[in-house]
Amino acid sequence: MLDAKPPPSSLPLPIPLLFLVPLFSIAAVSFASDYACQELSTSCGSVTNITYPFWLANDTDELFTHCGYQDFKVICRDNTPILSLATDNYTVIHIDYDRRIISLADADILGSADTCPRVRHNLTSLTDYSLAYAPSDTYLTFFFNCNDDRTEYTVSCLGHAGGNISFVLTDEMIKNNSFIPDNCEAVIVAPVLRDLLKSLEYELANRYKEALHGGFELNWSASTNDTCSHCERSGGWCGLNMTSSRTLVSACFCSDGRIASHNCSIAGLTLGCFALLCLFLCVYILRSRKHHEKNEPGVEGFLLRHGSLVPKRYKYSEIKRMTNSFGNKLGQGGYGTVFKGTLKDGHLVAVKVLSETKGNGEEFINEVASISRTSHVNIVSLLGFCLEGPKRALVYDFMPNGSLEQFIYADKSKTETQNLGWEKLYEIAVGVARGLEYLHRGCNTRIVHFDIKPHNILLDQDFHPKISDFGLAKICPPKVSVISMAAARGTFGYIAPEVVTRSIGAVSSKSDVYSYGMMVLEMAGGRKNFDAGVENASEIYFPHWIYDNLNKYCEVGISGLTSETGEVARKMIMVGLWCIQLNPADRPSMSKVLEMWEGSSGKLEMPPRP
Ligand SMILES: *[C@@H]1O[C@H](CO)[C@@H](O)[C@H](O)[C@H]1NC(C)=O
Ligand SMILES: *[C@@H]1O[C@H](CO)[C@@H](O)[C@H](O)[C@H]1NC(C)=O
Ligand SMILES: *[C@@H]1O[C@H](CO)[C@@H](O)[C@H](O)[C@H]1NC(C)=O
Ligand SMILES: *[C@@H]1O[C@H](CO)[C@@H](O)[C@H](O)[C@H]1NC(C)=O
Ligand SMILES: *[C@@H]1O[C@H](CO)[C@@H](O)[C@H](O)[C@H]1NC(C)=O
Ligand SMILES: *[C@@H]1O[C@H](CO)[C@@H](O)[C@H](O)[C@H]1NC(C)=O
Ligand SMILES: *[C@@H]1O[C@H](CO)[C@@H](O)[C@H](O)[C@H]1NC(C)=O
Ligand SMILES: *[C@@H]1O[C@H](CO)[C@@H](O)[C@H](O)[C@H]1NC(C)=O
Ligand SMILES: *[C@@H]1O[C@H](CO)[C@@H](O)[C@H](O)[C@H]1NC(C)=O
Repeated sequence: MLDAKPPPSSLPLPIPLLFLVPLFSIAAVSFASDYACQELSTSCGSVTNITYPFWLANDTDELFTHCGYQDFKVICRDNTPILSLATDNYTVIHIDYDRRIISLADADILGSADTCPRVRHNLTSLTDYSLAYAPSDTYLTFFFNCNDDRTEYTVSCLGHAGGNISFVLTDEMIKNNSFIPDNCEAVIVAPVLRDLLKSLEYELANRYKEALHGGFELNWSASTNDTCSHCERSGGWCGLNMTSSRTLVSACFCSDGRIASHNCSIAGLTLGCFALLCLFLCVYILRSRKHHEKNEPGVEGFLLRHGSLVPKRYKYSEIKRMTNSFGNKLGQGGYGTVFKGTLKDGHLVAVKVLSETKGNGEEFINEVASISRTSHVNIVSLLGFCLEGPKRALVYDFMPNGSLEQFIYADKSKTETQNLGWEKLYEIAVGVARGLEYLHRGCNTRIVHFDIKPHNILLDQDFHPKISDFGLAKICPPKVSVISMAAARGTFGYIAPEVVTRSIGAVSSKSDVYSYGMMVLEMAGGRKNFDAGVENASEIYFPHWIYDNLNKYCEVGISGLTSETGEVARKMIMVGLWCIQLNPADRPSMSKVLEMWEGSSGKLEMPPRP
């Protein structure tokens, strides 16, 4: 809406290119000769259309120009098309170019007047061919001149005296060893059509000739010949060209009539140019369109690149409808306002509407990218988002118990049930650690959150914690543990010292560990670490105070602590103190923190004074 005119610099580019198209076409046509492969389509006997990749050879002189695969040569002999596989000759019954299937039958059997022919062609192994036995085939196995006195499956017309009995078995029967006759002179396997064989089943011994007359099918795919497949990919047909010195060389026959040595690349060039032109035009149209819509190439680019990863995209009107025109405000976050909403199916959601003026969209992309990559019980799940020009919103699961912030700062006005109690606090601290450990370990991409604080820990109906607000998260490619940052991120009171003062150490996932430690101490202390009003000594820094007064603070009996809750309190403070060590290297990793939570507090060493 803002910038409807396309930028002047991109407009003149495609027009000169347009004039190039006819030029290239003319160039391609001028190579055309009167020789074309298509004209070679020929008939032989009842097979009327023998064409590429097959080719009809001259029985007397094979030395001539042709297009087709070398081993797909069909010879027309006595008005019968013959294809040779290895040393065996087969009659071509039919060729289906659409299904890429050729039907063949044993030339020997078809040509024989014998009512009881003896099969001589064994199954040909087709490993060196571009042909394969089709799925419609099955096999018949003939056993000749056997010294076996069984009477079933004998082919009586082929001999019946002792030591001269023949059998025919289907592929099914061959699988049962007890059917296989003993002491035979020869075994011949012949392919036949499965459907035809089924109809003959019980009369097979007498009517096997019908099965053999029905033939079998071979299918073909693109040539296995490298030269040939290059040619085909460029739109040509491969074959052999007889040069003036009467030698055959492989050549590529192009649709425009040219005979190229490898591929129809000039035609390919025309095509390539055309494709390029199309691309230019597409990009041009897309670009000018985008200028109609909005000017945020970063965001749109991200959405294009991560199409499959990003969650459902909502229209702004849908966002408005689901929040009942932004009627129920839940809170004010760092980068916008959160409203309560309802999806069409009744699912409760929290909709974070980002402030229009703040940021250039980077936080937004960050949040969508970070959360859409994660799936963990301790991380909020992003259900969808909205992006319409400057209007941006994120749709999350609704968390009925709000954020942790409301619960940890001791408030005299609150009743006992509103304070969570040590067990719950402990569970929340462990849950957040699990979520963070998942983010840092990362299956796909490691994520550093950079804004861990009670406000960003949401609680579901059972007070299970979920990490939210990924606006400041930084995704780092796996194996890069040190992060470079242009500007300090985070919230005062939780931000790790190295994020503010670079001389302390490198910014890394340990920066989250620091924020986590500060948060755990606040949970244990029931107060803000900074404005800690311990007996009115308003300037006391809680971590230092608690370090010096740990035993006193956790003593049984003090503020209702039992021996169990005293233990929990001590553990939370110890873990918190370990996490807020000044030097990032001294802080434990999140997985180490999880180990600490699992062990007993007695095993924990007292950390150095932070
Ligand atoms: C076979 O080749 C000879 C000589 O090259 C030619 O005279 C004859 O017409 C060809 N036959 C067929 C069927 O192409
Ligand atoms: C197959 O046909 C060729 C000629 O096209 C012939 O030389 C050859 O002997 C035949 N093979 C068999 C097994 O009949
Ligand atoms: C022969 O087959 C080709 C490929 O399927 C087809 O394009 C052509 O029209 C057919 N010609 C005849 C005469 O059937
Ligand atoms: C087997 O039987 C066939 C047909 O009856 C006969 O032609 C052939 O000579 C016999 N062979 C032997 C080895 O008996
Ligand atoms: C194999 O054939 C024999 C004899 O007809 C039969 O008793 C047996 O069950 C068959 N075995 C299998 C595995 O089909
Ligand atoms: C035919 O092939 C089968 C297996 O494929 C083999 O056992 C048999 O010996 C072959 N027969 C001849 C005559 O080559
Ligand atoms: C033949 O068809 C089967 C099944 O459709 C396929 O798996 C196979 O690759 C085909 N072979 C060739 C050479 O096209
Ligand atoms: C296929 O490959 C062989 C050797 O790899 C070569 O001699 C022949 O010319 C190639 N082309 C055709 C069309 O068969
Ligand atoms: C094909 O054969 C013709 C005539 O013999 C010859 O002029 C031409 O150069 C050959 N082309 C290729 C690519 O071998």
